[in-house]
Amino acid sequence: MSVPLVQLVDIPQRGDARGALSVAELGGVLPFAVRRVYWIHGTKPGVSRGFHAHKQLRQLCVCVAGSVRLSLFDGRREESVVLDSSAKGLLIGPGLWREMHDFSPDCVLMVFADAEYDEADYIRDRDQFIRHVHSS
Ligand code: TYD
Repeated sequence: MSVPLVQLVDIPQRGDARGALSVAELGGVLPFAVRRVYWIHGTKPGVSRGFHAHKQLRQLCVCVAGSVRLSLFDGRREESVVLDSSAKGLLIGPGLWREMHDFSPDCVLMVFADAEYDEADYIRDRDQFIRHVHSS
């Protein structure tokens, strides 16, 4: 039985009668200390993003508004998931090629990462990625 590529985690909900409140904290839903947060929003119609893998970086993606489809590829298998809830997080470890498709116009995708931005950690060529995973 192979390990699923899509690792979804339940984000604790602390909302009440006033509205929603979602929490991501170290030791809770976050398995790493966050060193960077960025968010993808205002994505133009028909645009897909990503098309890269990371050598080391770990990330937690939360779609806090709208929806987006993420596909993950480990060099052998590909799995896809729609994120459309701020109560679900997608953990993405190193060595996974990711693509983001079907952004809704209102999509806000928050990404928590365990390291600062480092272009040297990216693999942006799919064939190079496949060689990388098959050689490691
Ligand atoms: P990129 O990671 O290529 O975006 P995506 O994978 O969503 O298509 O990033 C787009 C640009 O933004 C690229 O020039 C690098 C820059 N960038 C930063 O400077 N810091 C960051 O934390 C991120 C994620 C990107």
